[in-house]
Amino acid sequence: MVQSERNGRACWVLVGGRQRLGRALAEDLARDHDLVLTSSGSWDGESWVEELAETARIRTLQWDAGSPDLVSRMMADLDTLQAQGWVISGVVLAAGTFPESPLGTWTPEALETTWRLNLSFPFLCAQALAPRLTEGACLQLLLDTSLHHPWLKRLPYSAAKAGLAALVPGLAQLLAPRVRVVGHALGTLLPAEGSDPAFLASRTLLQRIGEPADLCRAVRYAADSPFLTGEILTLDGGRRWVDR
Ligand SMILES: NC(=O)c1ccc[n+]([C@@H]2O[C@H](COP(=O)([O-])OP(=O)(O)OC[C@H]3O[C@@H](n4cnc5c(N)ncnc54)[C@H](OP(=O)(O)O)[C@@H]3O)[C@@H](O)[C@H]2O)c1
Repeated sequence: MVQSERNGRACWVLVGGRQRLGRALAEDLARDHDLVLTSSGSWDGESWVEELAETARIRTLQWDAGSPDLVSRMMADLDTLQAQGWVISGVVLAAGTFPESPLGTWTPEALETTWRLNLSFPFLCAQALAPRLTEGACLQLLLDTSLHHPWLKRLPYSAAKAGLAALVPGLAQLLAPRVRVVGHALGTLLPAEGSDPAFLASRTLLQRIGEPADLCRAVRYAADSPFLTGEILTLDGGRRWVDR
């Protein structure tokens, strides 16, 4: 058992751990991890978290990418966790937004909003968390298969994810050998509202969209692979290889 574990359970932080893929990861990881979950909103009424807390130690925090107090809040929360004995050995940065923004609709404000959550926020979270991670920890970021072929109706989003694609190997170099950094370039796992899952499935080699369990497996694989760092794993059912 490594020193960072408490009762055999590693402590992980899931940024954006309240909804969709973040929640799916939380529910999977809580089987054998203690978790710190963040959301931009209130955690009141999230009864599923209370259920997880019956077996795992769970702490919920409010980190809003749009808050002017974000950085001081993150620092204060991480100080408190440290003082309370949380030793963090894993992080998944899952917060994001997937807005349609075709050419012609771009404004400084809209670009700033997209890049704040999809690019600045992961940078700031990584900077705040990195010095607090224990030796051997793995920091993971959720990117998009748009790295290979940008979404033409979502170029600002695609550009933000491309920025994270530079962060992964850069941070891996800065944090080595103490901490590893891994990215996941995801195809569709949970379709956006209004999209057609059958069409999206037809655009993959495997003829299916993914599911949260695909991500859970990949995240566990990355965490358990001590020779893996600075890499972005593409998890898209082969979408990148389908002829356009
Ligand atoms: N779903 C997919 O199939 C897919 C495909 C490719 C890539 N990805 C990437 O995987 C990640 C998770 O995707 P997803 O579809 O589960 O969720 P999402 O809808 O892209 O959002 C992820 C999380 O971001 C959080 N968030 C929203 N506004 C925020 C703010 N102002 N400050 C901090 N957090 C905020 C939300 O949680 P709160 O509202 O609780 O704050 C939400 O749970 C994203 O980075 C996405 O780009 C997903």
